[in-house]
Amino acid sequence: MHARSIIKGDLHYVGVNDRITHLFESLWPLPGGVSYNSYLIDDDIVALVDTVEVARFGVYLRKIKSIIGERPIQYLIINHMEPDHSGSIRLIKQYYPDIILVGNKQTFGMIEGFYGVTGERYVVGDGDCLALPHHTLRFYLTPMVHWPETMMTFDETEGVLFSGDAFGCFGTVDGGFMDSRINTDRYWDEMVRYYSNIVGKYGNPVQKALQKLGALPVQVICSTHGPVWTGANIAKVIGVYDRLSRYDADAGVVVAYGSMYGNTEQMAETIASELSAQGVRNVVIHNVSTTHHSYILADIFRYQGLIIGSPTYNGQLFPEVEALLSEILSRDIKGRCLGWFGSFCWAGAAVKRLGEFAAKSRFEPVGEPVEMKQSMSAFTQTHCEELARAMASRILRT
Ligand code: FEO
Repeated sequence: MHARSIIKGDLHYVGVNDRITHLFESLWPLPGGVSYNSYLIDDDIVALVDTVEVARFGVYLRKIKSIIGERPIQYLIINHMEPDHSGSIRLIKQYYPDIILVGNKQTFGMIEGFYGVTGERYVVGDGDCLALPHHTLRFYLTPMVHWPETMMTFDETEGVLFSGDAFGCFGTVDGGFMDSRINTDRYWDEMVRYYSNIVGKYGNPVQKALQKLGALPVQVICSTHGPVWTGANIAKVIGVYDRLSRYDADAGVVVAYGSMYGNTEQMAETIASELSAQGVRNVVIHNVSTTHHSYILADIFRYQGLIIGSPTYNGQLFPEVEALLSEILSRDIKGRCLGWFGSFCWAGAAVKRLGEFAAKSRFEPVGEPVEMKQSMSAFTQTHCEELARAMASRILRT
């Protein structure tokens, strides 16, 4: 039983799966569920790294006790206070009242605020360490990856990085949790979606963290979501996070549109067809009403171009387009090219509003916006194709 929970030496996985929650943070779909990972260092004195979402506490406690029996836990290291990981702190404190909470200055205010938990604590600063009998743990403050109190813990003895949300992904861990024992294919797209949805706003802090941790001899990455990463996957997951946090993107274009009766959709189809004709191989069309924005955001992080279209609705943008634009702005996405188009029946507003979004965004405007009255005409088609050619030329020259 113990052997199955072992990651390396006396380090164990004690995380849990969640296949019940439909929307992560009540926002982001979880078609493949999610795992909340926690880790146990079964040294002569025991340390626990992060906890799990509180609804899974029963399973969690059973896993812990199956490894340490009735031995006490000396330390709870709290890398991140978002409740998907901190949710069980109060119950852990009830079961292990003498446990010492380990966090940084920012951590403890949140513990009291969320859970009313006080008691013995060990406050760490950047670069401080905690010596267990057979492990040396060093702490690195990594604020805003993903909250201000976030830090990472590096087990210098085993080369294991407890990275919090960083390098995490959506998806439960089914059967095994070690990348070497499972098929990891399904996690890579979900890593991009996790990053772009959850951490996407914090590209600069992620870059700072990567620089701070760059010299560490990491052999194992234990994130709070998804598989434990080892071997060649270490460089791969760091590469994914590095690229996304630099807002680096592949040559390709996302065409995202709203359409009530299919007329604006025809503009999107025309643009996409011309993009393809011009040699853009990665063209993704999203109807903002039928594709959850979570997936559209992931593709916007993935590809260099975005062409967005909206009908005029109540003298404004189509509401789902408006929502998507807000999500883009709040992530401060940059280094992208932007084209736009819109339609109206009797009084146009959408194209003007999209222009206002373009001015607020950090995207490079490309081509001439196209405005259509009521339905597709030869004139509109020509202008949609011109917009697509301008985008294709811009994308393919970089
Ligand atoms: Fe998985 Fe920011 O918590």
